[in-house]
Amino acid sequence: MIDVQDLHKSFKQQVVLDGASIFFAEGKITTILGGSGSGKSVLVKHIIGLLRPDSGTIVVDGQDLETLDDRELLQVRKKFGYLFQDSALFDFMNVFDNISFPLFEHTRLKRSEVQHVVAEKLRLVGLAGIEKKMPSELSGGMKKRVALARAVALDPKIIIYDEPTTGLDPVMTDTVNDLIATTQEALGITTIVISHDIRSSLRISDFLGLLNEGKIVEFGTPEKVQESEHPMMRLFLAGIERAPVSKS
Ligand SMILES: Nc1ncnc2c1ncn2[C@@H]1O[C@H](COP(=O)(O)OP(=O)(O)O)[C@@H](O)[C@H]1O
Ligand SMILES: [Mg+2]
Repeated sequence: MIDVQDLHKSFKQQVVLDGASIFFAEGKITTILGGSGSGKSVLVKHIIGLLRPDSGTIVVDGQDLETLDDRELLQVRKKFGYLFQDSALFDFMNVFDNISFPLFEHTRLKRSEVQHVVAEKLRLVGLAGIEKKMPSELSGGMKKRVALARAVALDPKIIIYDEPTTGLDPVMTDTVNDLIATTQEALGITTIVISHDIRSSLRISDFLGLLNEGKIVEFGTPEKVQESEHPMMRLFLAGIERAPVSKS
């Protein structure tokens, strides 16, 4: 589905990506695990064409991004849904307007069809019937669900979650992890998760890549990477042993 080969990216003197290669399999959940500031978001911004690499190739759905102009890149970007950590809802719009926004923006669906899609996406995230509520009436967890419903409104082929559980309590963390897994199952959507939360990563991922010093130094199934001898992976895994209940 997405193939990243030998990606290099520096900002001025700072080398962020130094030959990173990773593959995201169709219909699977793949997590990029790495310490904060290791370049996870920079890597993902390349995949959606927001950053251009210094060198290396990115192929999305058979298209080499390097060969595309800005207009074509925009088309590629439409294949993605995103849920960023700070995916805020528009506070002055109700739930229906929040979710329907991309539909009115990017499709020619009639209002009745849009209503149908919004109802279906709300059902998917377990919040059927709350179209008229304002964000201020929702709990943090419900807001996250509505943001997810909006992210999948256009039926993206690929969804990216950037640090979905950072800053959440353990219960909320499990809820969001379940939501990622059920969404992936229900829609068969290719899922990319960026995380520094190894517990969540091991729980939900089909594949896991460890980004360290600009490279993917370890890649495989959760079972496989748990056996890794890489010092950074050992550090992540030691964090679980020391703190059985994740604080973040
Ligand atoms: N647009 C940019 N210009 C300059 N430096 C950047 C830019 N984006 C990211 N960086 C730097 O690249 C490094 C990796 O950032 P990032 O990918 O956001 O880390 P993380 O792994 O926490 O997501 C950081 O040191 C950050 O300051
Ligand atoms: Mg980041």
